Amino acid sequence: MTDILAPTPEAITEAARHILDGGLVAFPTETVYGLGADATNDEAVAAVFAAKGRPAFNPLIVHFAEAAGVADVATLDGPAAELAGAFWPGALTLVLPRRDPCPVSLLASAGLDTIAVRVPHHRAAHDLLAAAGCPVAAPSANPSGRVSPTTAAHVAEALGAAVRVIIDGGPCRVGLESTVIELTGTIPRLLRPGGIPAEDIEAVVGPLARPDPGAAPASPGMGTRHYAPGRPLRMNAASAGAGEALLAFGPDAPEGAPNLSPTGNLEEAAANFFAMIRALDTPDNRGIAVMPIPDSGLGRAINDRLRRAASA
Ligand code: TXA
Ligand code: MG
Repeated sequence: MTDILAPTPEAITEAARHILDGGLVAFPTETVYGLGADATNDEAVAAVFAAKGRPAFNPLIVHFAEAAGVADVATLDGPAAELAGAFWPGALTLVLPRRDPCPVSLLASAGLDTIAVRVPHHRAAHDLLAAAGCPVAAPSANPSGRVSPTTAAHVAEALGAAVRVIIDGGPCRVGLESTVIELTGTIPRLLRPGGIPAEDIEAVVGPLARPDPGAAPASPGMGTRHYAPGRPLRMNAASAGAGEALLAFGPDAPEGAPNLSPTGNLEEAAANFFAMIRALDTPDNRGIAVMPIPDSGLGRAINDRLRRAASA
């Protein structure tokens, strides 16, 4: 039985206790819902991998209530500290060298000498992390390779059997996963476009290194086969083909089709993105045809997810 609980103080206390007991709790962040476990508990972290069917080579993001907590697990200085100051709490994940020794399970880092850390902005996430008082490892709360959840109902549908408690904070405001920046080399590197546009990050630390398109993914979770709906997806579509459902964007769209943002607003499109893909991913559609999305700001993160879904 899964309890879906509003984020009352009692529910937060119960969920925090469950995490400290080694259990799994799904909770909202402003990006997507996470599947959380005590990051210092090897067995709890292993249970996260098992619940998602996630390959053990793909490391997890470790969440903190406050930036100060990061100092226990990694060194936050230079450009990393500038980015943390500018965007935390928020939709930014930093990949940093692990401290040695580090209290976080090496399994959360998938055996790497780096650790991904984030301080989310969502009130319920903050309260849960503060109540638990431990670093919380949390990937997106979806089965590995599938579309990320932006509501408690999405989590319950796919992972209900694996989690005892889901904290329901309503639909996620941002709707796309956090932007992941690696800070282990001389130039900060974009590993995953996400909820904070790369342009905003470059305004703080200057030009980012981008992964070489031909190279192996720098972030183990960024293999192309990811973020996949069950049905084939087609990008930059002018209209739907036979049996396809159209996912529209902007004012020049056919009436009646679900529209990511009728005004062409990319923030609105990001917030609607995963829920609308899910709603169209049904057996009565042969495929999903998505109208062109501008490749700037949050549009870059949306197009990144679309490319992965289209290549699946
Ligand atoms: O918005 C988000 O980031 C959500 C919420 C719950 O925080 N979390 C999330 O986690 O999207 P997940 O596990 O679905 O994606 C984490 C990404 C993966 O691509 C993973 O490979 C990468 O971060 N990552 C984690 N640790 C890393 C590391 N040490 N080095 C490189 N990439 C890392
Ligand atoms: Mg994910």
